[in-house]
Amino acid sequence: MEDDHDLMQKIVSLAKRRGFVFPGSEIYGGLAGTWDFGHYGNELKRRVRELWWQAFVAGRDDMFGIDSATLMNEKVWEASGHTSEFSDPLVECGKCKRRFRADTIEGKKCPECGGALGETRQFNMMFATKIGAVDDSSSIGYFRPETAQGMFVNFKNILDAYHPTLPFGIAQIGRAYRNEITPRDFIFRAREFEIMELEYFVRKDEWEAHFEEWRTVMKKFLEQVGISKKLVHETELSAEDRAHYSKRTVDFEFDYPFGRKELCGIAYRTDFDLANHMRASGEHLEYHDEAAGDRFIPHVIEPTFGLERLILAIFVSAYREDELGEGKRAYLAFPKEIAPVKAAVFPLLKNKPELVAKAREVYTKLKKNTPNVMRDDNGNIGKRYRRQDEIGTPFCITIDFETLENDTVTLRDRDSGEQERVAVRELEERIT
Ligand code: GAP
Repeated sequence: MEDDHDLMQKIVSLAKRRGFVFPGSEIYGGLAGTWDFGHYGNELKRRVRELWWQAFVAGRDDMFGIDSATLMNEKVWEASGHTSEFSDPLVECGKCKRRFRADTIEGKKCPECGGALGETRQFNMMFATKIGAVDDSSSIGYFRPETAQGMFVNFKNILDAYHPTLPFGIAQIGRAYRNEITPRDFIFRAREFEIMELEYFVRKDEWEAHFEEWRTVMKKFLEQVGISKKLVHETELSAEDRAHYSKRTVDFEFDYPFGRKELCGIAYRTDFDLANHMRASGEHLEYHDEAAGDRFIPHVIEPTFGLERLILAIFVSAYREDELGEGKRAYLAFPKEIAPVKAAVFPLLKNKPELVAKAREVYTKLKKNTPNVMRDDNGNIGKRYRRQDEIGTPFCITIDFETLENDTVTLRDRDSGEQERVAVRELEERIT
C-alpha cells in the first residue's frame, strides 16, 4: 500500500515536473477537479485520440464521426433521464459542513473532523448554467455530462444526410462536465474531462453479438496504447450498479495505485434514449429498412472511454525504475506510437559548433516527415538522456565527431540504454 502511494506520488510529480499535467488555475490556489495538460501531456492525449479515432471510426466503414455542442437544451437531459437520475448520494458533516459521497464513507462520522454526518440525499452532478441575456427558469441549460446525447439527438440528421444501413454507429470525442462531490486521485475523477465514445445502432435481436464484438475491439485498443494487460479486469455490473439507461454493462477496471477502479466500459443501452427522445421531441427516430419493409427504433451498444483515466492507466503501465551504467533512473516505457517525442537529437558536446550545426541539420531533415522529433542542447549528455527517459522518448540520436567523418550517429534505445551506430540515411526508418 505504501509502495502504491509512493508510485502515485512519483507519477504526479513527474507529470508536473516534466510538463505533462498541471493543476488547473494553479497560481490562484487551483480549482478542484480541473487539470491543465502541458505540451507533452497534450501530445500524449492527441496521439491516444488519433489511435482511438482510427480504431473505432476512421478504420471502419460503418461509423460516422461527429462533433456536437457541449451546451445542450435542458429538454435533452429531461428526456435522457439525467435530470432525475444522474446523481450521487451525498452526506454533509453537521460540524465542518464538508460534503462527501455517501458510498465512500464508512460509519456516521465525518472523516475530516469526526462530527456527525447528516442524512444521505441525492445530488445531481450536472453543471447548470444560464443561457442568453434573460435570467429566468427558461434560460437554464446544462454542460453535457456525457457526449452520448449528442449522438442520439443527431440520429435523424445522420439518417437523412448519409442514408446508412444498419448496423452503423455515431462516434465523437469531446469534453464532458460533472460536478463530482469529491474530485480525487489526480486526473482519475475530475469535474471536466474528455470522453471518447460511440453509439452503435443494431437490431434488437442482434445486440449480444455486437456487444461481444465491441468488447474485443476495446481490449485490442487498450493493448495498443500500452495498458498492461495484467492490470485490467473485466467486471459485469449488477443491476443496482448500472447506469439508469443500461440493461447490461461490463466495466474494464484497472489496478490504479489507489485501488481497482473503472477505466472504461461497454453498455447495452437498449432503445432507451431514442425512444425517450422520440416521445419528448415528437420527431421520428426510427430506422426504415426498405429491403425488409420494416420500421423500428434501433437498440444501442455503447463502448465508452474516459481519456484522462486512460492517460493515467498508461502512466501507471509505463512507469519504470532501474539502474543503468550511470546510476538510477526513472523512465516511461510508452509504446512509440503514443510517445510525445519520438526521437531527440543532440550534439555530444554543446560547445562544439560543428557538432551543434550537424545536429541541427539531422534534426531538420528528420522533422520533415516525423514532426515529433526534438532537439536538445541543454546540460550534459547524461542529463539529456535522463530527461528524455522521463518523458518516454523511445530514441536518442547523438551527433559526435565520427558523424562528421562518416555520416553515422549513435542511436540509443530508451528501455535497454543500448547504443548502436546507424547511418543518418537509415534514421527515419529506424525511429518510425
Ligand atoms: N455515455 C456513457 C458514459 O458517460 P460513464 O461511465 O458515466 O459512461 C464514461 O463515463 C467514461 O468517462 C468512464 O468510463 C470513465 O472513464 C470516464 N469518467 C467518468 N467520470 C469521470 C470523472 N469524473 N473524471 C474523469 N473521467 C471520468
